[in-house]
Amino acid sequence: MKPNRWINAVLVFGLAGTTVMLSGCGEGGEGPIVAPPAPPAEYADKHMPAGWWADPKIAEEGQQIFIGAKNPDVNCASCHGMDGKPVKAGARDFRTTDRMKLYSDSVWFWRISEGVPNTKMKSWKTKLSEEDRWKLVAFERNFGLKGKEFDTAKKEWVAVGSAGAAPAAEGAAASAPAPGVGAAPAGGGAAPAGGAPAAAPAGGGK
Ligand code: HEC
Repeated sequence: MKPNRWINAVLVFGLAGTTVMLSGCGEGGEGPIVAPPAPPAEYADKHMPAGWWADPKIAEEGQQIFIGAKNPDVNCASCHGMDGKPVKAGARDFRTTDRMKLYSDSVWFWRISEGVPNTKMKSWKTKLSEEDRWKLVAFERNFGLKGKEFDTAKKEWVAVGSAGAAPAAEGAAASAPAPGVGAAPAGGGAAPAGGAPAAAPAGGGK
């Protein structure tokens, strides 16, 4: 890793204020366990299509892509290893639960889509449809987070099937239409900012 990436990592760690413990560097030279950066706005609202976490077929299809069986030009295993044990120095080890549980589904998808600057991890969005990228997330999560799904309301990994069992509010997310399926890569999707003062009836102010 280049020094500036370290600095970024340290900054992000500090800013996020997470209570993550620095690990003892025992993870094959991947460095300390720090939270990844937040995904850019374009990816922040992208989530695993409904029902896919629980569907073993989806993960199996992800595996076929991962090992290069579907398209020899896309072979994640050539660096990340067939069984998740990295075979190229510096490749992310998805078996490290303590690190990977800090990755939201959106971050995971973002990194596969855009790659990680200044590393061997390149952008795959031109070679893989959104569906294929989600299948890869579903497969890769099994190395360190098997049986889990990302709860977008609680923002943490929970047992498959228990996401959305959360208190009211964001439960609606679970029934949202599957992202990716024919969805145009519309940017942003910024929600209307709250907090605009209610318009006072005209003619008030003295
Ligand atoms: C040429 C080697 C190589 C290939 C092929 C490769 N990766 Fe990576 N990948 C890396 C390296 C190196 C990193 C660590 C980047 C870093 O330091 O943050 C990484 C990191 C990642 C990360 C975590 C990013 C982060 O922020 O920590 C994900 C997710 C990932 N790869 C998924 C994939 C998927 C899916 C594929 C196949 C479509 C793939 N990789 C193919 C080398 C590779």
